[in-house]
Amino acid sequence: AIGAPVLAIESSCDDTACAILDADGRVLAERVHTQREHDAFGGVVPEIAARAHLAALPGLVEATLRDAGLSAPDLGAIAASTGPGLIGGLIVGSGVGKGMALALGLPFIAVNHIEAHALSPRLPGVVQGGAPFPYLLLLVSGGHCQCIAVEGVGRYRKLGGTIDDAAGEAFDKVAKMLGLGWPGGPAIEALAREGRDDVHPLPRPLLGRPGCDFSFSGLKTAVAQRLAPYGAGALPRRDAADLAASFQTCVADVMVDRAAHALDLLPEATTLVVAGGVAANGAIRARLMALASERGLPFAAPPLRLCTDNAVMVGWAAIETMRAAAGLGRWPFDDTAVRP
Ligand code: KG4
Ligand code: ZN
Repeated sequence: AIGAPVLAIESSCDDTACAILDADGRVLAERVHTQREHDAFGGVVPEIAARAHLAALPGLVEATLRDAGLSAPDLGAIAASTGPGLIGGLIVGSGVGKGMALALGLPFIAVNHIEAHALSPRLPGVVQGGAPFPYLLLLVSGGHCQCIAVEGVGRYRKLGGTIDDAAGEAFDKVAKMLGLGWPGGPAIEALAREGRDDVHPLPRPLLGRPGCDFSFSGLKTAVAQRLAPYGAGALPRRDAADLAASFQTCVADVMVDRAAHALDLLPEATTLVVAGGVAANGAIRARLMALASERGLPFAAPPLRLCTDNAVMVGWAAIETMRAAAGLGRWPFDDTAVRP
Protein backbone atom coordinates (compact mmCIF):
# COMPACT_ATOMS: atom_id res chain seq x y z
CA ALA A 1 0.00 0.00 0.00
CA ILE A 2 2.99 2.32 0.47
CA GLY A 3 3.28 4.33 -2.70
CA ALA A 4 -0.44 4.97 -3.31
CA PRO A 5 -2.40 7.88 -1.82
CA VAL A 6 -3.91 7.75 1.66
CA LEU A 7 -7.42 9.01 2.39
CA ALA A 8 -7.80 10.28 5.96
CA ILE A 9 -10.83 11.17 8.08
CA GLU A 10 -11.07 13.34 11.20
CA SER A 11 -14.27 13.48 13.28
CA SER A 12 -13.23 13.56 16.94
CA CYS A 13 -14.84 16.88 17.87
CA ASP A 14 -16.80 19.44 15.84
CA ASP A 15 -14.80 19.40 12.60
CA THR A 16 -15.71 16.89 9.91
CA ALA A 17 -12.61 16.62 7.73
CA CYS A 18 -11.23 14.53 4.90
CA ALA A 19 -7.85 14.74 3.17
CA ILE A 20 -5.94 12.80 0.54
CA LEU A 21 -2.14 12.75 0.70
CA ASP A 22 0.30 11.15 -1.70
CA ALA A 23 2.91 8.76 -0.34
CA ASP A 24 5.37 11.60 0.31
CA GLY A 25 2.85 13.55 2.35
CA ARG A 26 1.90 16.06 -0.32
CA VAL A 27 -1.69 17.17 0.09
CA LEU A 28 -3.70 16.28 -3.02
CA ALA A 29 -7.01 17.53 -1.63
CA GLU A 30 -8.42 18.63 1.67
CA ARG A 31 -11.84 19.61 2.99
CA VAL A 32 -12.95 20.71 6.45
CA HIS A 33 -16.54 21.29 7.49
CA THR A 34 -16.78 23.08 10.84
CA GLN A 35 -20.13 22.40 12.49
CA ARG A 36 -21.99 25.60 13.32
CA GLU A 37 -24.83 23.74 15.03
CA HIS A 38 -23.14 24.28 18.41
CA ASP A 39 -22.71 28.06 18.34
CA ALA A 40 -25.97 28.73 20.16
CA PHE A 41 -24.93 26.40 23.01
CA GLY A 42 -21.54 28.01 23.73
CA GLY A 43 -19.81 24.63 23.44
CA VAL A 44 -19.83 21.37 21.50
CA VAL A 45 -22.88 19.16 22.14
CA PRO A 46 -21.66 15.55 21.61
CA GLU A 47 -24.98 14.11 20.38
CA ILE A 48 -25.45 16.91 17.86
CA ALA A 49 -21.83 16.56 16.74
CA ALA A 50 -22.18 12.83 16.05
CA ARG A 51 -25.31 13.32 13.96
CA ALA A 52 -23.76 16.20 12.04
CA HIS A 53 -20.66 14.07 11.22
CA LEU A 54 -22.95 11.34 9.95
CA ALA A 55 -24.81 13.82 7.73
CA ALA A 56 -21.67 15.49 6.35
CA LEU A 57 -19.04 12.78 6.01
CA PRO A 58 -20.12 10.68 2.98
CA GLY A 59 -20.54 13.76 0.78
CA LEU A 60 -17.30 15.25 2.10
CA VAL A 61 -15.36 12.07 1.21
CA GLU A 62 -16.80 12.05 -2.31
CA ALA A 63 -16.02 15.74 -2.80
CA THR A 64 -12.43 15.32 -1.57
CA LEU A 65 -11.85 12.43 -3.99
CA ARG A 66 -13.28 14.59 -6.78
CA ASP A 67 -11.00 17.52 -5.81
CA ALA A 68 -7.99 15.21 -5.98
CA GLY A 69 -9.08 13.89 -9.37
CA LEU A 70 -9.07 10.36 -7.96
CA SER A 71 -11.56 7.57 -7.55
CA ALA A 72 -11.63 5.18 -4.59
CA PRO A 73 -9.72 2.33 -6.32
CA ASP A 74 -6.69 4.67 -6.74
CA LEU A 75 -6.19 4.73 -2.96
CA GLY A 76 -3.62 2.70 -1.04
CA ALA A 77 -4.93 2.99 2.51
CA ILE A 78 -7.67 4.56 4.62
CA ALA A 79 -6.93 6.28 7.92
CA ALA A 80 -9.14 7.80 10.60
CA SER A 81 -8.81 9.29 14.06
CA THR A 82 -10.06 6.62 16.45
CA GLY A 83 -9.49 8.45 19.74
CA PRO A 84 -9.31 10.29 22.02
CA GLY A 85 -12.34 12.48 21.40
CA LEU A 86 -16.13 12.46 21.47
CA ILE A 87 -17.09 8.83 21.01
CA GLY A 88 -20.12 9.40 18.74
CA GLY A 89 -18.10 11.30 16.15
CA LEU A 90 -15.19 8.86 16.38
CA ILE A 91 -17.53 5.95 15.67
CA VAL A 92 -18.92 7.74 12.61
CA GLY A 93 -15.44 8.55 11.20
CA SER A 94 -13.86 5.19 11.89
CA GLY A 95 -17.01 3.38 10.73
CA VAL A 96 -17.00 5.15 7.38
CA GLY A 97 -13.21 4.60 7.07
CA LYS A 98 -13.34 0.92 7.96
CA GLY A 99 -16.30 0.40 5.64
CA MET A 100 -14.35 1.93 2.76
CA ALA A 101 -11.25 -0.12 3.58
CA LEU A 102 -13.31 -3.31 3.69
CA ALA A 103 -15.08 -2.58 0.42
CA LEU A 104 -11.84 -1.64 -1.36
CA GLY A 105 -9.66 -4.35 0.22
CA LEU A 106 -7.29 -1.74 1.69
CA PRO A 107 -5.54 -1.50 5.05
CA PHE A 108 -7.26 0.66 7.66
CA ILE A 109 -4.88 2.72 9.80
CA ALA A 110 -6.29 3.73 13.21
CA VAL A 111 -4.68 7.03 14.20
CA ASN A 112 -4.44 8.45 17.69
CA HIS A 113 -5.67 12.03 17.41
CA ILE A 114 -3.01 13.43 19.76
CA GLU A 115 -0.32 11.57 17.81
CA ALA A 116 -1.63 13.24 14.65
CA HIS A 117 -1.25 16.68 16.28
CA ALA A 118 2.18 15.66 17.58
CA LEU A 119 3.57 14.64 14.17
CA SER A 120 1.97 17.51 12.20
CA PRO A 121 5.07 19.77 12.29
CA ARG A 122 6.91 17.05 10.34
CA LEU A 123 4.62 17.36 7.33
CA PRO A 124 6.83 18.27 4.37
CA GLY A 125 7.15 22.01 3.97
CA VAL A 126 5.60 22.96 7.31
CA VAL A 127 8.67 23.58 9.44
CA GLN A 128 12.05 24.44 8.02
CA GLY A 129 14.34 21.51 8.78
CA GLY A 130 11.37 19.16 9.27
CA ALA A 131 11.31 19.14 13.12
CA PRO A 132 13.79 16.33 13.79
CA PHE A 133 13.16 14.12 16.84
CA PRO A 134 13.11 14.78 19.73
CA TYR A 135 11.13 18.00 19.98
CA LEU A 136 8.88 19.59 22.55
CA LEU A 137 5.24 19.98 21.58
CA LEU A 138 3.00 22.34 23.48
CA LEU A 139 -0.49 21.30 22.39
CA VAL A 140 -3.01 23.91 23.48
CA SER A 141 -6.60 24.00 22.23
CA GLY A 142 -10.17 23.80 23.49
CA GLY A 143 -9.78 20.08 24.06
CA HIS A 144 -6.04 19.62 24.65
CA CYS A 145 -3.52 21.19 26.99
CA GLN A 146 -0.31 19.27 27.36
CA CYS A 147 3.47 19.27 27.01
CA ILE A 148 4.66 16.27 25.00
CA ALA A 149 8.18 15.04 24.32
CA VAL A 150 7.97 13.73 20.74
CA GLU A 151 10.89 11.30 20.56
CA GLY A 152 9.97 9.26 17.48
CA VAL A 153 7.06 7.73 15.62
CA GLY A 154 5.08 5.95 18.33
CA ARG A 155 7.39 7.32 21.02
CA TYR A 156 5.78 10.11 23.04
CA ARG A 157 6.19 11.13 26.65
CA LYS A 158 3.59 13.32 28.29
CA LEU A 159 5.61 15.69 30.46
CA GLY A 160 2.59 17.50 31.86
CA GLY A 161 -1.03 18.33 31.23
CA THR A 162 -3.93 20.26 32.65
CA ILE A 163 -5.38 19.19 35.97
CA ASP A 164 -8.70 20.88 35.19
CA ASP A 165 -9.57 22.97 32.09
CA ALA A 166 -7.74 23.21 28.78
CA ALA A 167 -6.32 26.64 27.90
CA GLY A 168 -8.80 27.19 25.05
CA GLU A 169 -11.65 26.23 27.35
CA ALA A 170 -10.52 28.96 29.77
CA PHE A 171 -10.50 31.48 26.90
CA ASP A 172 -14.01 30.35 25.92
CA LYS A 173 -15.39 30.54 29.46
CA VAL A 174 -13.88 33.95 30.18
CA ALA A 175 -15.23 35.21 26.85
CA LYS A 176 -18.68 34.00 27.85
CA MET A 177 -18.41 35.87 31.18
CA LEU A 178 -17.41 39.02 29.29
CA GLY A 179 -20.40 38.63 26.99
CA LEU A 180 -18.27 37.87 23.91
CA GLY A 181 -19.17 35.22 21.35
CA TRP A 182 -17.98 31.63 20.97
CA PRO A 183 -15.28 30.52 20.28
CA GLY A 184 -13.89 33.02 22.74
CA GLY A 185 -10.16 33.00 21.96
CA PRO A 186 -10.19 35.30 18.93
CA ALA A 187 -12.70 37.67 20.62
CA ILE A 188 -10.54 37.97 23.75
CA GLU A 189 -7.41 38.53 21.70
CA ALA A 190 -9.09 41.34 19.74
CA LEU A 191 -10.51 43.02 22.85
CA ALA A 192 -7.24 42.64 24.77
CA ARG A 193 -5.52 44.91 22.21
CA GLU A 194 -7.54 47.83 23.60
CA GLY A 195 -6.87 46.98 27.24
CA ARG A 196 -4.16 47.31 29.88
CA ASP A 197 -2.88 44.02 31.26
CA ASP A 198 -1.69 45.37 34.62
CA VAL A 199 -4.95 46.70 36.06
CA HIS A 200 -6.43 43.45 37.36
CA PRO A 201 -4.13 41.36 39.51
CA LEU A 202 -5.02 37.77 38.59
CA PRO A 203 -3.44 34.57 39.94
CA ARG A 204 -0.89 32.68 37.81
CA PRO A 205 -1.88 29.06 38.59
CA LEU A 206 1.11 26.72 39.18
CA LEU A 207 3.62 29.39 38.08
CA GLY A 208 7.06 28.52 39.41
CA ARG A 209 5.94 25.09 40.64
CA PRO A 210 7.99 22.07 39.59
CA GLY A 211 6.93 20.11 36.50
CA CYS A 212 4.77 21.33 33.66
CA ASP A 213 1.16 20.73 34.57
CA PHE A 214 -1.46 23.42 33.92
CA SER A 215 -4.49 24.62 35.86
CA PHE A 216 -7.01 27.23 34.76
CA SER A 217 -10.08 26.81 36.96
CA GLY A 218 -8.77 29.14 39.72
CA LEU A 219 -8.01 31.79 37.13
CA LYS A 220 -11.51 31.49 35.73
CA THR A 221 -12.95 31.94 39.25
CA ALA A 222 -10.73 34.99 39.81
CA VAL A 223 -12.09 36.59 36.63
CA ALA A 224 -15.65 35.88 37.82
CA GLN A 225 -14.86 37.55 41.17
CA ARG A 226 -13.53 40.64 39.38
CA LEU A 227 -16.79 40.79 37.44
CA ALA A 228 -19.07 40.37 40.48
CA PRO A 229 -19.16 44.08 41.49
CA TYR A 230 -20.69 44.95 38.10
CA GLY A 231 -23.75 42.85 38.92
CA ALA A 232 -26.11 42.20 36.03
CA GLY A 233 -25.43 45.62 34.49
CA ALA A 234 -23.48 46.01 31.28
CA LEU A 235 -19.70 45.87 31.70
CA PRO A 236 -18.06 49.06 30.35
CA ARG A 237 -16.00 48.15 27.29
CA ARG A 238 -12.83 49.64 28.76
CA ASP A 239 -13.12 47.44 31.86
CA ALA A 240 -13.84 44.37 29.73
CA ALA A 241 -10.76 45.14 27.62
CA ASP A 242 -8.55 45.52 30.71
CA LEU A 243 -9.81 42.23 32.05
CA ALA A 244 -9.30 40.47 28.70
CA ALA A 245 -5.74 41.81 28.48
CA SER A 246 -4.94 40.81 32.06
CA PHE A 247 -6.33 37.32 31.51
CA GLN A 248 -4.40 36.83 28.27
CA THR A 249 -1.09 37.95 29.79
CA CYS A 250 -1.76 35.65 32.72
CA VAL A 251 -2.23 32.65 30.41
CA ALA A 252 0.90 33.63 28.46
CA ASP A 253 2.95 33.89 31.68
CA VAL A 254 1.82 30.46 32.79
CA MET A 255 2.48 28.90 29.39
CA VAL A 256 5.99 30.28 29.13
CA ASP A 257 6.77 29.05 32.65
CA ARG A 258 5.40 25.56 31.93
CA ALA A 259 7.16 25.33 28.55
CA ALA A 260 10.44 26.42 30.17
CA HIS A 261 10.13 23.60 32.71
CA ALA A 262 9.29 21.14 29.94
CA LEU A 263 12.43 22.19 28.04
CA ASP A 264 14.44 21.58 31.23
CA LEU A 265 13.03 18.03 31.22
CA LEU A 266 13.96 17.54 27.54
CA PRO A 267 17.43 19.08 27.16
CA GLU A 268 17.94 17.26 23.82
CA ALA A 269 14.94 19.06 22.25
CA THR A 270 15.71 20.26 18.73
CA THR A 271 12.68 22.55 18.38
CA LEU A 272 9.89 24.16 20.41
CA VAL A 273 6.61 23.51 18.61
CA VAL A 274 3.25 24.96 19.57
CA ALA A 275 0.01 23.64 18.04
CA GLY A 276 -3.73 23.75 18.72
CA GLY A 277 -6.26 26.55 18.36
CA VAL A 278 -4.69 28.66 21.12
CA ALA A 279 -1.46 28.75 19.08
CA ALA A 280 -3.33 31.25 16.89
CA ASN A 281 -2.96 33.81 19.67
CA GLY A 282 -0.34 36.35 18.61
CA ALA A 283 0.56 37.46 22.15
CA ILE A 284 1.09 33.89 23.35
CA ARG A 285 3.03 32.98 20.21
CA ALA A 286 5.36 35.96 20.65
CA ARG A 287 6.12 35.01 24.25
CA LEU A 288 6.87 31.39 23.34
CA MET A 289 9.01 32.54 20.44
CA ALA A 290 11.04 34.65 22.89
CA LEU A 291 11.48 31.64 25.17
CA ALA A 292 12.75 29.52 22.28
CA SER A 293 15.24 32.16 21.20
CA GLU A 294 16.46 32.51 24.83
CA ARG A 295 17.19 28.78 24.73
CA GLY A 296 18.78 28.98 21.28
CA LEU A 297 16.08 26.77 19.75
CA PRO A 298 14.06 27.15 16.58
CA PHE A 299 10.40 27.95 17.24
CA ALA A 300 7.72 26.43 15.05
CA ALA A 301 3.98 26.87 14.86
CA PRO A 302 2.29 25.02 12.01
CA PRO A 303 -0.11 27.20 9.99
CA LEU A 304 -3.48 27.56 11.68
CA ARG A 305 -5.36 25.17 9.38
CA LEU A 306 -2.91 22.46 10.52
CA CYS A 307 -2.97 23.57 14.18
CA THR A 308 -6.72 23.14 14.57
CA ASP A 309 -8.40 19.80 13.92
CA ASN A 310 -7.92 18.61 10.34
CA ALA A 311 -7.53 15.39 8.36
CA VAL A 312 -4.15 16.22 6.79
CA MET A 313 -2.40 15.53 10.09
CA VAL A 314 -4.29 12.22 10.38
CA GLY A 315 -3.12 11.15 6.92
CA TRP A 316 0.44 12.19 7.71
CA ALA A 317 0.48 10.22 11.00
CA ALA A 318 -0.76 7.20 9.03
CA ILE A 319 2.05 7.62 6.48
CA GLU A 320 4.70 7.94 9.20
CA THR A 321 3.25 4.90 11.00
CA MET A 322 3.17 2.75 7.83
CA ARG A 323 6.70 3.77 6.95
CA ALA A 324 8.01 3.03 10.43
CA ALA A 325 6.28 -0.37 10.36
CA ALA A 326 7.82 -1.13 6.95
CA GLY A 327 11.26 -0.17 8.25
CA LEU A 328 11.59 2.60 5.67
CA GLY A 329 13.59 5.78 6.20
CA ARG A 330 12.04 8.77 7.84
CA TRP A 331 11.45 12.19 6.41
CA PRO A 332 13.24 13.54 4.44
CA PHE A 333 12.51 10.32 2.58
CA ASP A 334 15.54 8.66 1.12
CA ASP A 335 14.11 5.48 -0.35
CA THR A 336 12.76 6.57 -3.74
CA ALA A 337 14.93 3.85 -5.26
CA VAL A 338 13.32 1.03 -3.32
CA ARG A 339 9.72 2.21 -3.51
CA PRO A 340 7.74 0.08 -6.01
O1 KG4 B 1 -7.81 23.27 17.91
P1 KG4 B 1 -9.17 23.86 18.01
O2 KG4 B 1 -9.79 24.47 16.79
O3 KG4 B 1 -10.23 22.80 18.50
C1 KG4 B 1 -10.03 21.97 19.60
O4 KG4 B 1 -10.34 22.45 20.71
O5 KG4 B 1 -9.55 20.83 19.42
O6 KG4 B 1 -9.10 24.94 19.17
C2 KG4 B 1 -10.19 25.75 19.49
C3 KG4 B 1 -9.83 26.53 20.72
C4 KG4 B 1 -11.01 27.30 21.26
O7 KG4 B 1 -11.07 27.12 22.67
C5 KG4 B 1 -10.67 28.73 20.91
O8 KG4 B 1 -11.20 29.68 21.82
C6 KG4 B 1 -9.16 28.72 20.97
O9 KG4 B 1 -8.79 27.47 20.43
N1 KG4 B 1 -8.60 29.82 20.16
C7 KG4 B 1 -7.88 30.84 20.66
C8 KG4 B 1 -7.62 31.72 19.58
N2 KG4 B 1 -8.18 31.19 18.45
C9 KG4 B 1 -8.77 30.02 18.83
N3 KG4 B 1 -7.47 31.09 21.91
C10 KG4 B 1 -6.75 32.22 22.10
N4 KG4 B 1 -6.48 33.11 21.14
C11 KG4 B 1 -6.88 32.91 19.87
N5 KG4 B 1 -6.61 33.82 18.91
ZN1 ZN C 1 -7.39 18.16 18.32
